[in-house]
Amino acid sequence: MERTVVLIKPDGMQKKIVGTIIDRFEREGLQLIGLKLINLTQEMLETWYAHHKDKPFFKDLSEFMKKTPVVAMVLKSPNAVNRVREVIGPTDSTKAPKGTIRGDHGDSIQMNVVHASDAPERAEFEISLLFKSTEIFG
Ligand code: CDP
Ligand code: MG
Repeated sequence: MERTVVLIKPDGMQKKIVGTIIDRFEREGLQLIGLKLINLTQEMLETWYAHHKDKPFFKDLSEFMKKTPVVAMVLKSPNAVNRVREVIGPTDSTKAPKGTIRGDHGDSIQMNVVHASDAPERAEFEISLLFKSTEIFG
């Protein structure tokens, strides 16, 4: 079993597709074991996106990520990291195939509806930033 983290970004929140997104993962066989709303702070974003901090898009990205609270969830299944990355599609929504969450609902490379962990170790790090152990059920 593997765990992964998904965030529903402010564009997904504003489009009111939280239920649709969770449904996609549940239909894919992923089990929801953690769920909350959270306001990301600049400090959290600098940790979360530390590897992007010096990129030209970081300032805009962090402003975007603070626009509304985000939904944070933990999903569990065999091979959860790769399965979730397949369901969401590639980073650039304009290049993401129809049938993926970003292809169906995203607008751009920045406004791409969801974040998902890119490796199992990374997922565990993201879980530790967002959730207490008592908030994870499974
Ligand atoms: O989210 P993902 O792992 O697919 O992509 P990333 O390369 O780790 O980038 C993190 C996030 O930064 C993306 O999901 C986009 O929201 C944003 N981004 C951007 O605004 N402009 C870029 N040129 C690349 C990424
Ligand atoms: Mg990434």
